[in-house]
Amino acid sequence: MSFDSLWADLAGIGRDGRRGGFSRHGFDDAELTMREWFVEQAGRRGLGVHADRNGNLWAWWGSPGPGAVVTGSHLDSVPGGGAFDGPLGVVSGLLAVDELRARGFRPARPIAVVVFAEEEGGRFGVPCLGSRLLTGAVDPATALALRDPDGVSLADALRRAGLAHGDVGADPSAVAHVGAFVELHVEQGRGLVDLGAPVGLASSILAHGRWRLTFSGEGNHAGSTGIADRSDPMLPASQAVLAARRAASTVDGARATVGRIVPNPGGTNVIASTVDVWLDARAPSTSDTRAVVDEIVRAGRQAAADEGCELVVREESYTGTVVFDSVLRDELAAALGGVPALPTGAGHDAGILAGQVPAAMLFVRNPTGVSHAPAEHAERDDCLAGVAALTTVLEHLAS
Ligand code: HGY
Ligand code: MN
Ligand code: MN
Repeated sequence: MSFDSLWADLAGIGRDGRRGGFSRHGFDDAELTMREWFVEQAGRRGLGVHADRNGNLWAWWGSPGPGAVVTGSHLDSVPGGGAFDGPLGVVSGLLAVDELRARGFRPARPIAVVVFAEEEGGRFGVPCLGSRLLTGAVDPATALALRDPDGVSLADALRRAGLAHGDVGADPSAVAHVGAFVELHVEQGRGLVDLGAPVGLASSILAHGRWRLTFSGEGNHAGSTGIADRSDPMLPASQAVLAARRAASTVDGARATVGRIVPNPGGTNVIASTVDVWLDARAPSTSDTRAVVDEIVRAGRQAAADEGCELVVREESYTGTVVFDSVLRDELAAALGGVPALPTGAGHDAGILAGQVPAAMLFVRNPTGVSHAPAEHAERDDCLAGVAALTTVLEHLAS
């Protein structure tokens, strides 16, 4: 199977006619179709594939056991996302297995290609949900109770997908199998473009988290309610959006984004009763990240008080700064004949696993750096360079 044919298999799955790009979210129809494709591809390669208790898929070359060399990524996307974020790592993992077999390579330790569940948190709101559950980084009961925008719980979604085995939660024996995890991913930035390199290794991930700010006021009629008689939560919500940009601009390397704001009930001629604002904030350290968030919440609270509104803040997820294992990183750089190492502001399952197993990331050049948008792209030659690099890395680690 070539890169082109595997890539073509996925091109039609989960296309989003309204947003452009792809919308494939944890255990929804599109992502389940992507999973079926993966299981079929694993079967064609004689890989033993199973879903773990948290809905992550593992395809094994050799029987699962300690010291395994694991690669893979995710198949879910953000709403209206690009084609490469996630699937490139999964496709590259399958092709690297093909290449090793074509060379007659016989691994001295098991190799697995994994598909992690709900990496983007696009449906249930918590990113890297599958790898967080696997590593015990999120409470199972809390996770199972998470609901998507239609009110469907993760528990119901797992049941509907035939993946409800009842014991969602930390899976230490599965983690114990992982001798090293290497995730290949399209770069979400222009670092490799600026360095003139097709492939690189990750050095670190910004600390990052998500907060839900719920502003409450008094729902009312847009026409019959005088300005002086309003408690309109849209006002403080708007101030929070502006405060996000202001606060992030004052801290080196910090980012704060509101990409999702939902008024309730959401009528054109209706003063909202509540407005939900989801904040994504990131910075080089936890203290910086929390300082940015604190400033945004302070501004939101002040604006809420000015408008006679209330504000409730909920932290939905948080991951501290990840620094990847420099010994593994340098070992892989040497095996690849010397490739650059670069930081990223994007979270990954490799970042969650890095807390428990030696983990590394291979980045593939992204000509524009754009990601989480339909324009996300990687040139075919660079994708093939990524497959070749991953093949070298797996051969090095599994020898
Ligand atoms: O949001 C992120 O950083 C990642 O794409 N899940
Ligand atoms: Mn992403
Ligand atoms: Mn990703």
